Amino acid sequence: MNVDITFLPSERTVSVRAGTTVLDAARRFGIPVRTRCDGKASCLMCKVVAQNGSGLSPMQNNERYKLGGLEAEGTRLACQAKIIGKAVVEVPEDPLRAAVRKQLMRQAEEDKLW
Ligand code: FES
Repeated sequence: MNVDITFLPSERTVSVRAGTTVLDAARRFGIPVRTRCDGKASCLMCKVVAQNGSGLSPMQNNERYKLGGLEAEGTRLACQAKIIGKAVVEVPEDPLRAAVRKQLMRQAEEDKLW
């Protein structure tokens, strides 16, 4: 059985087999999710935010322990959360990319002054 997952902010919806992890689905369709441990739940770089709370597998104790309270905001580890129904997740912007974007915006504002 296939299920749909929508990745934000790109609003890209893809269909995958139920039980696929969010990380595997993202990789399969070229949606960038940061990772260093390759899905072993140790780097904590693959955090995504579940938008509707449903559609993902229940959180296991290991994931809850690793998140250390962030789960209350809907944060999940993409490598641990399995897609079991229609799901929507937000993939946070890469911190380095966000810093560069902010610097470019700041520079553009300064350029307007001249
Ligand atoms: S990929 Fe490293 S914790 Fe998920």
